[in-house]
Parts: sequence; C-alpha cells; structure tokens
Amino acid sequence: MEVDKIVQHFEGKTIFITGATGFLAKVLVEKILRVQPNVKKLFLLIRASNVRSSEQRFHKEVVDTELFQVLRNKWGENLTSFLSSKVVPISGDVCHENLGIINTELRDAMWKDIDFIVNSAATTRFDERYDVAMDINTFGALHVLNFAKNCSKLKLLLHVSTAFVHGTSPGLILEKQFQMGETLEGAKVSYLDINGEKKLVEERKTKLQAQNMTEKELTSTLKDLGVERAVLHGWPNTYSYTKAMGEMLLEKFKENINIVIMRPTIITSTWREPFPGWMEGLRTLDSIFVGLGKGKLKVFLGDPNTTLDMIPGDMVVNSMLVAMAIRSHQSSDEIIIYNIGSSLRNPIKYDNVRCLIYQYLKRNPLVNDTGKPIKMAKVKILSSMSSFHRYIEIRYLPILKVKFVSILSSLLLSILIKVTNYMCN
Ligand SMILES: NC(=O)c1ccc[n+]([C@@H]2O[C@H](COP(=O)([O-])OP(=O)(O)OC[C@H]3O[C@@H](n4cnc5c(N)ncnc54)[C@H](OP(=O)(O)O)[C@@H]3O)[C@@H](O)[C@H]2O)c1
Repeated sequence: MEVDKIVQHFEGKTIFITGATGFLAKVLVEKILRVQPNVKKLFLLIRASNVRSSEQRFHKEVVDTELFQVLRNKWGENLTSFLSSKVVPISGDVCHENLGIINTELRDAMWKDIDFIVNSAATTRFDERYDVAMDINTFGALHVLNFAKNCSKLKLLLHVSTAFVHGTSPGLILEKQFQMGETLEGAKVSYLDINGEKKLVEERKTKLQAQNMTEKELTSTLKDLGVERAVLHGWPNTYSYTKAMGEMLLEKFKENINIVIMRPTIITSTWREPFPGWMEGLRTLDSIFVGLGKGKLKVFLGDPNTTLDMIPGDMVVNSMLVAMAIRSHQSSDEIIIYNIGSSLRNPIKYDNVRCLIYQYLKRNPLVNDTGKPIKMAKVKILSSMSSFHRYIEIRYLPILKVKFVSILSSLLLSILIKVTNYMCN
C-alpha cells in the first residue's frame, strides 16, 4: 500500500486511543493530526477525575509539549479550534468495566462512531506491584476488548504489547499468539492460571492489609510477589509477564473482533517525525546515555557483540498506522501479531552503540550546573561476570577496607570512652 493510500484510509474515521498521555500514543496522536487533518474524531482516554481535568491533562501533557511544535507552526492561532473540533479527551481508566466511562450518552455515541481502537495504556515499570500490573496490563486489555465488542462499526482493535512477552529466550522470535495458560521455557510450573493469579493477589492483599502494614510495606511486598510469580511462570519481570497474560486474554475472548497485536522492542526517540530526537524523560536506554554524558557511568555491562534491538518511536507509530490500514480490510479468525524491531534487517551491536554515544557526547558534551562541559569517563565494557567481580574488587575493595577500618576504630573509641567513664564513676 502506498503512503498516500494509508493516510487516506483515516479520512473521516474515528479513532479511540488509550494511554494518550504516554510517550508512544502522543507520537501517534500528533502524527494522525498532522498527516490526516480530515480524520473525523480522536477520542482519547485519560486518567482523570472528570472531563475538565482530562482536558487539562490533554493540553498540559500532550499539546503543550515540544512534540506539537510542528503542528503549532502549521496552525498558528487556529490550533485550538482545530483541536477542539477533532479531539475529545475522555476521563476513564482501563482497570474498570466500560473503561470507567460513566456518561452513558457519551458511551453510546462512542460505540456508534468508533472505527479503530488503539490500546496503548500500560504500566511499564518492570517491578510494578503485582495487583496494579495485573489490573492495567492484563485485565485492562480485556476491558478494552469488551468495550470494542460494543462498537457497531469497529474495523480493528490494535493492542500495543512488547517483544519481551517472550522473556529472555534467544534467537528468532516468532509472530505467534499465546495460548491461554502457556508458560515460558524455564518455568517451574507448566500451567498459568490467570484467574487463579488474580485470586491469589487479592487474597494476599487482604491478608497484608489485615496485618496493618503501612502502604510502603504493602507496596514492597506486592512488588516482590509480582517478580516471584513472573519467575515461577518463566518471565523475568512483572511487566512482561502481565503483558503476556493480557495477550492471552485477548486470544481467549476475541470472538469476532479483528485484532492486531504490535510487539515493539525498546522504543527510543523519534528518527525523523515530526523532527529527529524527540523523547520524553529518561526512559529506557536514555538513562544509560545520560549517565555516560554526566561522567557518572564508567562501565557498560554485557557482551559487546550482542545485537541491541531498539526502534525509534515514529517508526513504531508508522508500523501501527500501516497495520491498521491494511488489516482493517482483512478480518482474521486469528490475532495478527507484528514484532516491531530492528535487529533482523538493521542490527546494531552493543559496542557500536557505546562508541556512537561516546563520539556524540564528545562533540556535544552535557554541561554542569555552572555551564561547564562535563568530562566523560573512558567507558569500559565488562563482558563477563568474572570481569565485573574483578572490577568491583579493584575499584571498591580499598574503599570498603578504609570504611571497615574507620567503623572499627570508631567502635573501639566508643568502647574506650564507655570504659573510661565507668572507671571515673
Ligand atoms: N516504551 C517502550 O520502550 C516500549 C517498548 C515496547 C512496548 N511498549 C508498550 O507501548 C505502550 C506505550 O508505552 P509508553 O512507553 O508510551 O508508556 P508510558 O509513557 O508509560 O504511557 C503509558 C500510558 O498508559 C496510561 N495508563 C496507565 N494506566 C492506565 C489506566 N489504568 N487507565 C488508563 N490509562 C492508563 C498512562 O496514563 P497516566 O499518564 O495517567 O499514567 C500513560 O498515558 C505500552 O503498552 C507499552 O507496554 C513500550
């Protein structure tokens, strides 16, 4: 399909997007409004207590970002009226039935009007509380599916998942849907009972609350529980595990809904659109790059020859739009899965990333509080656990020894003072 045809496809269409204040969905919203101003409507689900605060969040966290600069330049003072004719921020939450949209009139209008649903809402914390991650990433996906079943002219539900639903298995990752109850290689059990997990976390929570735990203790215990259950079933963290369970629920309860699941790898800043290098906060690899630029990061851990799979945000969005345009014509009994990554056609090695970032930061150093360029450390790659242990020993053992000696001497000193006081009394 040619680019123009893909863009045309969204003319006069209504698209419902969840996770609209998040990084990826913002890039999607901006792209649609920029390339297809004749889209009929964008309904955006935003967590907020009422319509007014969802509108405020949309303006503050989406429109007022640098990402919208190209649109601001294009529309000038007409941007506000353009946006209010196209975008409807809606307060809601994927953790609830009907996505927490209580206004029945609005809900009915949405059900009549929506052509596409994009579910980008998620908690992306790797060690999220188990109850929270299940509510959003697992049952949130089911709530979006149930909402989709009410949309009379829905063409497609696009669910954004992650390539890491496959855990840490090496090699080629197939675009294959999960079956209900599947576990990964290395799991300590052979069946994953999602409802059983839901029951378990609820019972554990009630029990912990009955023990009068503080919120902090409760959070820490439920975070540990998430990792424990993930590892038991073969996943390395709560995030990828609960996302995988979300995919399973979609597969199980799909019925006749046309579903595409996109599985991006590590999403980085934009490549070209609306301009290169847009990113929000420190997310995945960016924290490593900034650590390096600030001179704080002195070592890279990992095999320098490993291919690092990352993909710019605008490329992910382009893939989503192409999938929506193409797959809305071809309804399928099966869920269609797309892995969105770079390692197959355009692989980049860990060591190349290190060198490129180093060279870039050398030419464009970060500055400190006084405006002076920060000197970077010459970064070492530690490719094995033994080299890591050696590094820690050489670098930190002398410090630890000094600390130990000073702790010991202050301990002896306090004993001496106590004994002297005792003798004087
Ligand atoms: N970033 C990556 O590298 C990456 C890689 C692969 C896949 N993905 C997937 O891509 C999607 C988007 O990720 P992202 O990086 O844009 O994440 P993000 O910036 O953390 O955004 C997540 C969005 O989901 C919303 N959300 C969270 N809980 C919600 C709830 N209960 N109800 C409604 N909305 C809720 C958040 O709203 P609030 O603003 O209210 O918190 C936010 O708008 C996710 O599905 C993620 O799993 C991301």
